[in-house]
Amino acid sequence: MRLLTAAVTSIALTLGAQAVSAAPIELKFSHVVAENTPKGQMAIKFRDLVAERMGDKVEVKVFPNSQLFGDNKVLEAMLLGDVQMAAPSLSKFQKYTKSLQIFDLPFLFKDMDAVERFQQSEQGQELLNSLRKRGLVGLGYLHNGMKQLSASEPLRVPSDASGKKFRIMTSDVLQAQFEAVDAVPLKKPFSEVFTLLQTKAIDGQENTWSNIYSKKFHEVQPYITESNHGVLDYLVVTSAEFWSGLDEDVRAELKQALDEAIAYGNKISDDKAAEDRQAIIDSGRSEVIEISDAERQQWVDAMKPVWKQFEDEIGADLIEAAAQSNQ
Ligand code: LMR
Repeated sequence: MRLLTAAVTSIALTLGAQAVSAAPIELKFSHVVAENTPKGQMAIKFRDLVAERMGDKVEVKVFPNSQLFGDNKVLEAMLLGDVQMAAPSLSKFQKYTKSLQIFDLPFLFKDMDAVERFQQSEQGQELLNSLRKRGLVGLGYLHNGMKQLSASEPLRVPSDASGKKFRIMTSDVLQAQFEAVDAVPLKKPFSEVFTLLQTKAIDGQENTWSNIYSKKFHEVQPYITESNHGVLDYLVVTSAEFWSGLDEDVRAELKQALDEAIAYGNKISDDKAAEDRQAIIDSGRSEVIEISDAERQQWVDAMKPVWKQFEDEIGADLIEAAAQSNQ
């Protein structure tokens, strides 16, 4: 009898241990944008690929629209282990590294193809490691698109922006960019932008077509200048502690799913920008202002000195390499 009891206990313990080890690892993916954006869609794709291929080992839970953390808090939360993955805009890493500021330099990239070429270059890939010292791992770049300027009044030339308040992401380069046209930049979280615009606490902001459309900024901003003056892309990040704590095969499978999800997000980003631009025009809520080459040149002349201002922090060689990607 005693033998039987011991055997039953041993089986129960084994089954219990299996049940415990079988619980999938929870991977929380937090972001601030809507689901119908390149980042929103990429996160969903990643969740679904992981569920399909390794659902017994990892469960991805996606939290969009700043539901879990705003971008200004998410990296701290990641280092504390409260969230495992995020894809903040490249403009939101300056507390952790100065090199990624390169992506904020105004008029550095002529289009998204140039951005892609630079990101895939040796220098671009090296930047993925720039957060290692701070306990974060860059897993890949994700596109959103080129930024446009929205405002309560038409902006055609830099003097139109003079004295106006613009919301910016937490980036000193973006601050310098608006100061270069005598505007007043204010660093604010993405989740507050709509209300700030609606209540006219600020006059304008810069963002991509998909962010402007999905967050309805065009409904409270009567003018959008098609300036394409800068890029808004993302870095998909995780914490070194979480990433290195995974079994090697799990890490490899997750990375494979992530690479495919990023490729998907990047593939839809251009179409999304074009569709959302058109949807804004069709809504009749905001006028899209196309500026002439001469007007655009005035913005370039006013903002480009910002490159020199940040050359020491970012590195002249890196800026040169990025500029080369336009060819
Ligand atoms: C912003 O704050 O404007 C963007 O970074 C939001 C986003 O994640 O696209």
